[in-house]
Amino acid sequence: MLAGEQGHATQKAMQILVALGKIYDAERLVKVSSVQVSGVSYKNLGDAGLEFLRELARDGKARVKTTLNPAGMSLTDWKSQGIDSGFAKKQLRVIDAYRKLGVEITCTCTPYLAGNEPSFGQHIAWGESSAVAYANSVIGARTNREGGPSALAASLTGRTPLYGLHITENRVPTIAVDVEAQLRFPEDFSAMGYFVGGEAKDGIPYFRGVQRASLEDLKTLSAALASSGGVAMFHLEGLTPEFGVATKNLETLTFTGKELMETNFQLNDEGAPDFVSVGCPHCSLTELATLAKLLSGRQVTREFWVCCSGEVKRQGDQAGYSKIIEESGAKFALDTCMVVAPVEELGYKVVATNSAKACHYLRNAGLKVRFMPLEECVAEATSG
Ligand code: F3S
Repeated sequence: MLAGEQGHATQKAMQILVALGKIYDAERLVKVSSVQVSGVSYKNLGDAGLEFLRELARDGKARVKTTLNPAGMSLTDWKSQGIDSGFAKKQLRVIDAYRKLGVEITCTCTPYLAGNEPSFGQHIAWGESSAVAYANSVIGARTNREGGPSALAASLTGRTPLYGLHITENRVPTIAVDVEAQLRFPEDFSAMGYFVGGEAKDGIPYFRGVQRASLEDLKTLSAALASSGGVAMFHLEGLTPEFGVATKNLETLTFTGKELMETNFQLNDEGAPDFVSVGCPHCSLTELATLAKLLSGRQVTREFWVCCSGEVKRQGDQAGYSKIIEESGAKFALDTCMVVAPVEELGYKVVATNSAKACHYLRNAGLKVRFMPLEECVAEATSG
C-alpha cells in the first residue's frame, strides 16, 4: 500500500497512518472492523478539505464498514432550514466524494443506533468524540479519538496504528469520581460529564455510586465528557463492561448536588431562547417517543429542531412518533445538528438545548445558551 501498488488514495492513506504510528511509537498496524468518519460539515472542512476528499475519491475505496458524521445541513430539506445555496452546493459535493469512496451516507453521530455496531474487544477507528467515548466505554470496542483524515485513512486501508486505547494497559482509570448527586434525568448525566471532563482532561474517569444508567444517559455522558475535556473512555462501576480494573491510589473527585447545581448554573446565559434544539448526540427512538408524548396536541411557537439519524427517524415513522412531532410544527433536522449547521448565520441568538456538549460548542460559535431538561425544552418551544 505504501509503495503505491494499490493506488494513489491507498498510498496517501497509508502515509498518514505510518506518520501517526511513528509519532505514537506504534509497534505495528492492526486491522479494524469499522470506521466512523468525522469532518463532514463544509463549515469545518472548507475548500481545502473538499479538494482533499475529491482527490482521494478518484481511486480510493472503503475496505471496511464506514459510516459518516453529521453534515452541515439536512441533505434533502436544507432549503427549509434556511441554508444558503452556495453552502449547500459545496456540502453536497463533500457528500458526493464520500459516496464515491464507498462511505455509507448515514450522517449521524450515533452510528451505534444506525447499523454500525461493533462488538466488545474489536478494534475500530472512529472519529466523533462522543461516539468514541461511547464505543470504548459502553460497548468495550477499542478506538482512539480519530480525526477526519486518520479515520478515513483507516477506512481506505482497513488498518490503524496499534497505540493508545487499542492497548489493554492504556484502558485503566486515571481518576476516580464518587457520585453523590442524585442523577434523575439524562441532562444530569450531561452536566456531570461536563464537570468531570473539565477535571479529568484526557484521562479515564472511574465513576462509583451510579446505580443505573439508560442508553440516553450514557450517550449524553459520553458527549459531555468529551467536550469539556478530551475524555475518550470512562468506566461506570458495575455498569460498563471493563469496570473491573484497579482503582486504588487514584486521585478522587466527588460529584455532589452542589457541583450538579453549579454546572447547571454555569451552562445558562441570560436571554429568552429564539431557537430550541434537542438531539445532541442524535436522538434515540426512546427520545422520539418522549418528544411525541410531550408535543402531542401542542404547537411550537419558535424554531424547534429534533436532530436524529435517518435510521432512527424511520423507526419513529413506523412507531407513529414522527407524525405527532411534525404535526406540532417541530422540524426533524436529519443528517445534521445545531452545532455543525451554520446556526449562527441563520440569525438566532439564544439556543435552548438539553445537551451540555451543544452548549459548549454553540457558545464557542458566539451564541448564548440555555441548558434545560428535554421536557423544559418542549415547554420553551411551545410557550406563547
Ligand atoms: Fe452529534 Fe452534533 Fe452533538 S454531531 S454529538 S449532535 S454536536
